Amino acid sequence: MAMRWKNTLKESDVTEETAFLNRRQLMGSAAAGLGLAAIGATGTRAAAQDLQPNAYEDITLYNNYYEFGTGKDDPARYAGQLTTQPWSVKIDGLVDNPGDYAFEDIIKAMTIEERIYRFRCVEAWSMVIPWNGFELADLLGMAGVQSGAKYVAFETALRPDEMPGVKYPVLEWPYVEGLRLDEAMHPLTMMATGIYGKDIPNQNGAPLRLVVPWKYGYKSIKSVVRITLTDKQPPTSWNKANAREYGFYSNVNPEVNHPRWSQASERVIGGGLFSKRVSTLMMNGYEEEVASLYAGMDLIKNH
Ligand code: MTE
Repeated sequence: MAMRWKNTLKESDVTEETAFLNRRQLMGSAAAGLGLAAIGATGTRAAAQDLQPNAYEDITLYNNYYEFGTGKDDPARYAGQLTTQPWSVKIDGLVDNPGDYAFEDIIKAMTIEERIYRFRCVEAWSMVIPWNGFELADLLGMAGVQSGAKYVAFETALRPDEMPGVKYPVLEWPYVEGLRLDEAMHPLTMMATGIYGKDIPNQNGAPLRLVVPWKYGYKSIKSVVRITLTDKQPPTSWNKANAREYGFYSNVNPEVNHPRWSQASERVIGGGLFSKRVSTLMMNGYEEEVASLYAGMDLIKNH
């Protein structure tokens, strides 16, 4: 299942300089024994649409990870306390091979590749992130999805001793998320284990987090400890907190506003004084790849 969808941004979207940097960092980490199987971002032309990966600092210092506090800099400040070794993911429910899968065993069995994806938060900011990781479909394949499964439920670790934010009832803990099985099996859907060729930092969801690039960022649940195949639509944290404002689907849609703000445009993180607002793209720019998943559905009702 190697190279499909590898870079969904076109070559022309990636600057020469960034491509060079990515290649170098990837080669560095491959040499360091991370076993990266695919080297991405071989773009050689200048940016046609002015899209380029955000700086590592943008991606790792401006975060949402409420288990460590609600401030954008809280995760970078406090997530270092999270113990990520050893780590295992329980895969259970409607699967042939339920069990606790050690993170190292998962990594060994998967093909790690680079994917440069747009990332759009429901709060109307965005970044472009060069993830490393594998397709969720490959992991689900390893677990053996049974025919009755219709949804996939995800759960984040809950460690009150290491997570200062969970003493506040901002959300019901643990953080949980869910996808329809066809969304989970879509080749764009990945489990990220790295950024810019380095192990994913704790504040971004170490050691592995979901990435669903056509959905608002809150669907991309961090530090996953459990994946359950089920025949019922699973509860999701933000929907439980406020069902009117946060639906199960949460597909990026510039035509469906959040009840309290517009979703028509987004603030691009980074660039300091030169940071800008751009129009939000339907399904965050992945409409061609994923629109068929929602054929015939009312996207307002199923927001
Ligand atoms: N996962 C957990 N467990 N807890 C969280 O608070 N925040 C979500 C999502 N996953 C969150 C989470 C939200 S609102 C966003 S926008 C993204 O993570 C942010 O990911 P980033 O910090 O890597 O940019």
